[in-house]
Amino acid sequence: MARNPRYDILFEPVKIGPVTARNRFYGVPHAAGMTNAMPHMRAAFRGTKAEGGWGVVCTGYVSIHPSSDDAPLPFATLWDENDIRSHALMTDAVHQHGALAGIELWHGGGSVINRVSRTPPLSPSGISWMPTHVNFMGNQRSKAMDRDDIRALLGWQAEAARKARRAGFDIVYVYAGMGYLPYEFLLPEWNRRTDAYGGTVANRVRIVRELLEVTHEAVAGQCAVALRISLEELRGRPSAVAPSEAHEVVTLLADVPDLWDVKMDSSPTDCPPSRFAPEGSHEPVIDFVKKLTRKPVVGVGRFTSPDAMVGQIRRGVLDLIGAARPSIADPFLPRKIDEGREQEIRECIGCNICISSWHDSVPVRCTQNATIGEEWRRDWHPERIAVATSAASVLIVGAGPAGLECALWLGRRGYEVTVAEAEDEIGGRLRFETRLPGLSAWGRVLDWRRGRLQELENVTVYRGNRLSAQEVLELGNTHVVIATGARWARLLYSPLEVPAEALEGPRVFTPDDVAAGARLEGPVVVYDYDNYYMGGVLAEHLAKAGHRVSYVTPTGYASAWVIMSNEQPQVHRALAAAGVALHTLSRVTAFDGSEVRLAGQFTNEETSIACRALVIVGARFANDELYRALAARADDFGAAGIKSVTRIGDALAPGALVHAVYSGHRYARELDAEPASLVFRRDAPLPAA
Ligand SMILES: Cc1cc2nc3c(=O)[nH]c(=O)nc-3n(C[C@H](O)[C@H](O)[C@H](O)COP(=O)(O)O)c2cc1C
Ligand code: SF4
Repeated sequence: MARNPRYDILFEPVKIGPVTARNRFYGVPHAAGMTNAMPHMRAAFRGTKAEGGWGVVCTGYVSIHPSSDDAPLPFATLWDENDIRSHALMTDAVHQHGALAGIELWHGGGSVINRVSRTPPLSPSGISWMPTHVNFMGNQRSKAMDRDDIRALLGWQAEAARKARRAGFDIVYVYAGMGYLPYEFLLPEWNRRTDAYGGTVANRVRIVRELLEVTHEAVAGQCAVALRISLEELRGRPSAVAPSEAHEVVTLLADVPDLWDVKMDSSPTDCPPSRFAPEGSHEPVIDFVKKLTRKPVVGVGRFTSPDAMVGQIRRGVLDLIGAARPSIADPFLPRKIDEGREQEIRECIGCNICISSWHDSVPVRCTQNATIGEEWRRDWHPERIAVATSAASVLIVGAGPAGLECALWLGRRGYEVTVAEAEDEIGGRLRFETRLPGLSAWGRVLDWRRGRLQELENVTVYRGNRLSAQEVLELGNTHVVIATGARWARLLYSPLEVPAEALEGPRVFTPDDVAAGARLEGPVVVYDYDNYYMGGVLAEHLAKAGHRVSYVTPTGYASAWVIMSNEQPQVHRALAAAGVALHTLSRVTAFDGSEVRLAGQFTNEETSIACRALVIVGARFANDELYRALAARADDFGAAGIKSVTRIGDALAPGALVHAVYSGHRYARELDAEPASLVFRRDAPLPAA
């Protein structure tokens, strides 16, 4: 198919200092959890983006010196010769597909703890970041940098830039964002210096200028020098000479970098979930930059719509369309636009499971794209899959996220696939969940699979078809896949932190009851020990429906796990705005239909809340009745022509959407595969040269 001429502008080359990007699609720096410990996985992951058409593909944050050690978070290093060889695998993979490779050189300053290197952290004035996020807390405070430290820092940056050039990078960054060292110089809260590096904006920006200068010198015109900078805080600060301190900073540095890469200051605003921020949410903060520099500007904002991208360029906001998450969800996004297949883009849903992988310090995972991180170790490609090696037919029972993913990729392999869905609509849990506050974008999980399945003649989906074990046997497919999902349980939670005794009663509900349209009488208590989004979002939903709602959790926060997906601040704000009363560190011990009894999680202190309905958002268990009924008839499989019956997704082990999609995908990849190929390759750091 031909490209829509409306999108031609996205494919114009852009000159960035001495190098030229082939188009305006820019894969911004983002960590992928693989680090130098998994260099082949990392290279294949980034190379796949280049193959998918991105004009530039960057690394994540790369430490320039052991005094910048973010362990256990997954940072990369460029400290020695071995690191050069490790990164060269990535630059080779990226260059092979005609893209430029960028490296984000990074010093964490007072935000790192240096747990492994055991070097005192450095900061402008001995002020460390002391986050409320327990994963980032530490007891090591930073040393206030003296002139020797500043000289050393400039030397480390220059040396790392030289190494970057030798590793084959085309764009070398100075990173002044997100609470890291150069950013700390920019803000007076961190920077209380009285020398030439503190005080006025011109003084505070000095270190960034010097870092840019030494980087230019080190790469000697062979690489472009980019500045990634967070402008949110600075934009909010008044300036005597400009509309804000952000304007002042950009004016002072205007043409010093070859490229401006502009972003927000904290992960929840820089990489916000779709629940709370639309596509293009950065624009009000960064829209002025292009007016103050002649150099190209790249910015981000979960861009998946080519029209939104064109709009950014035509309105003079950006020159290059930056993406982290959209390039994870669909590494082939640029190619699809180029080939007039934009309706095939697997759009990021903004769930932020990817960023939770970074918090978990593991290779990146994605709800929409099961192949991410698996390019090398399992040989999974985001667009291609091996053709079927048998004439087997497959029956999939259940058309939720796992069943649909499984059907799609089995169909693409060429198998005859029948999907039987008990309900009148496909979608499983998403039928209800996408109607909850802020979760409509999650419907893209269904939309994309529904659209692609329509392209396949060998996949048939039947709705309103609840199959019994006998019917499955009679259908006589070679393989049967059970994707029947899971259900929520009415269980209390014990002081041992496990689901405990059942709590039955006419006024006790689960999210499944609410989904099925149960009529709740208020006031309502939502009791959440699941800790992911459901408890918080359901409390918000019920409050917005007019109920007086109290939210109870044994943890210290609402939807406690969502700190991993950058949602915690917004969840608390959303609950407050909806008027939901929060009861943290509390367990529900009893409910008599008019009063919920609570015990302090650590103190056992007893309290109560008057209410007429209790919704328990706790444990989930597999809907595996059909699987068990079939297992009991295993002796009949041979006569029925059935070779295997397998559970996938929540019917196997209840999890988040990301687990369901991955499980369905994996089944499709591995059907009829040789046993040896079912084991993933183990990556390892390169041996010392
Ligand atoms: C998994 C993940 C890791 C990230 N790691 C980095 C990083 O190492 N350095 C950085 O500057 N930004 C990092 N970011 C932020 C992104 O570069 C980007 O600014 C943000 O995700 C918003 O862009 P998007 O809407 O296109 O995702 C990361 C984002 C994600 C999702
Ligand atoms: S995990 Fe979610 S937010 Fe991240 S890229 Fe995938 S779909 Fe987008």
